Amino acid sequence: MVSLIDIQTSAKLIKDNVLRTPLIYSHTFSKMTGTEVYLKLENLQIGGSFKIRGATHKIQSHLKQIRPKGVIAASVGNHAQGVALAARAADVPATIVMPIWASITKQEATRNYGAEVILQGESLLECIKIGQDLASKSGRMFIHPYDDEEVTIGQATIGLEILEDLPNPDLILVPVGGGGLIAGIATCVKSLRPQTQMVGVQAEACPSAYEALKLGKPVNIDYKNSIADAIMVTEVGESDFHIIREKVDQIVLVSEDQIAEAVTLLLERKKIIAEGGGAVPLAALLGSSLRIPKGSKVVLVISGGNVDSLVLDKIIRQGLRLHGRLMRLSVCLEDVSGSLASLLNLIARNRANVVHIHHSRNEQGLPINFTRVDLELETRGTEHINEIKDVLEGQGYHIKVKR
Ligand SMILES: Cc1ncc(COP(=O)(O)O)c(C=O)c1O
Repeated sequence: MVSLIDIQTSAKLIKDNVLRTPLIYSHTFSKMTGTEVYLKLENLQIGGSFKIRGATHKIQSHLKQIRPKGVIAASVGNHAQGVALAARAADVPATIVMPIWASITKQEATRNYGAEVILQGESLLECIKIGQDLASKSGRMFIHPYDDEEVTIGQATIGLEILEDLPNPDLILVPVGGGGLIAGIATCVKSLRPQTQMVGVQAEACPSAYEALKLGKPVNIDYKNSIADAIMVTEVGESDFHIIREKVDQIVLVSEDQIAEAVTLLLERKKIIAEGGGAVPLAALLGSSLRIPKGSKVVLVISGGNVDSLVLDKIIRQGLRLHGRLMRLSVCLEDVSGSLASLLNLIARNRANVVHIHHSRNEQGLPINFTRVDLELETRGTEHINEIKDVLEGQGYHIKVKR
């Protein structure tokens, strides 16, 4: 059983190796929701996520046993970086098994922190199995990404810091993958302030803890791909499940569109880079079925910021489209000189900016004297998009607006 004393002891043990991340008030999100919103910024943690906390606790607690052979871990990416950094700080070797599809940025960062990376396995659960086998054959210690009470104790130190900075939160929203992060924070918060509601957030694409609570036990579920790759864990950890069942008030689910919107809002409004998994608490606050009384003090744990630039680019475009800030449309034009110029003039008069244009004449299915123009426009919002659509249609253009 994880206890408050374990967590307080861990905070002292790991304090020289991890950052005490800030808890900041967000005027924007408070205004949008009628609540008081605070962000716990673990995206600013060393290694870009909270994972160094649990890894440091585990390694520092067993230094004698771990040296000189080192440790093995399995991870989609953030635990990999956390373990690599914690091992480097303790001067012990680390080997990390990552799935073959793991983000290139996360693989490279892990290598740069001095760990050996083995790319093997399709899912995190497969990587864990491979890592555990390797560990038992080589006599090295395996550091589980979530289903290990000592790792959970390290993650729980986030709860202590939140309550030191904000002693009376009404609600804390936490991303859930394997469940170690929320199990740790909930244990801490429910010991010190039982009336604070603890809410876990998962992607609809991989609702493993949500399903486990419904069925009364952890189950290995089917999943779809998600931009929240860090929380795509198909089976919640056994030890975490028991804590979640006892101490977490609710698990809510968010869609891919809601996650993309949350990442974009954090970037645009707060200049915060969060990865999909780190942004799900904001997605839940803005879009899920949660009913939060006005004026409540709400803490969002922004658990990580490790996102590939190309993925971030895709997420931002998706987020902008959802907000009506990008309009994509296709128009058929008569193939006569000046027809493209007239279209672009009309668009300019309606104050939309052309971001991208593709003009094709030889497409299959296009009548011989017509061309097709695909456009991406920068727009001010959904109303602006509707205005442009009405104007173009009013002038006789046949347009198809794409999502
Ligand atoms: C950024 C981020 N957020 C949340 C989580 C979920 O943590 P847990 O698996 O302990 O539930 C992870 C797990 O890797 C993560 O990397």
